[in-house]
Amino acid sequence: MKIDVYFTPLGLNPGDLAGRGIVVLDVLRATTTIITALANGAKEVIPAATSEEAVRLASNLEKDGVLLAGERRSVKIEGFALGNSPREMTPEVVAGKTIVLATTNGTPALVASQGGDPVLVGAPANFGALTLRAREALVARRELVIVCSGREKQFALEDAYTAGRIVKAVKKGLGKIDLNDAARAALDLTSAYDSWADAFAGTAAARQLEDANLSEDIEFCAKPNRFGSVPQYSERRIT
Ligand code: MLT
Repeated sequence: MKIDVYFTPLGLNPGDLAGRGIVVLDVLRATTTIITALANGAKEVIPAATSEEAVRLASNLEKDGVLLAGERRSVKIEGFALGNSPREMTPEVVAGKTIVLATTNGTPALVASQGGDPVLVGAPANFGALTLRAREALVARRELVIVCSGREKQFALEDAYTAGRIVKAVKKGLGKIDLNDAARAALDLTSAYDSWADAFAGTAAARQLEDANLSEDIEFCAKPNRFGSVPQYSERRIT
């Protein structure tokens, strides 16, 4: 059995991941926001690679049931109903709604993972439930791929640390598991930090959120096991 980690989706072509078990991570903030929205009653989340595509996708859906959400440099995109803060995804706002989401790194990484089976949406927010599902996928498929969204095609510490925590939890008690170099490096990161809050502090993503007065989102995203659900991306929808 083997686990491969990709620190960014760069160089991954849609076909590369076809039929493989995948976990997608953009912990600050897109995957945390998606998990929160669905746990709070959203009907589905449709990831778009660009804001233009999000507007096009939303225009094909029944108006009252859809919400456009997304960010640029962490700030809500002009004309969209919501930004990309998990704290905006309250039951009052999202229950029964289809959310069409466009973010800088997270939604392009999801779109690049199309064709995987399953494609699991992960973050500290659903860590416990996620590692159980990821382990099932590893045992069933003899391999698991963890795709980190990164930041503007660069390495993002918050995603890599979370990937390391998943590798550590999933491989426990399963004997010898082959790890690619990125998976080994991610695993090593888990002994460099005591917690998600510790690993997130001072990262480029955290600094950008602080500059946008969204520090509370860092705290929200760093808290593990808020939800017991593991959203799955299939046929262009996350449910
Ligand atoms: C992203 O997907 O790029 C991030 O989630 C951006 C953000 O929310 O600030």
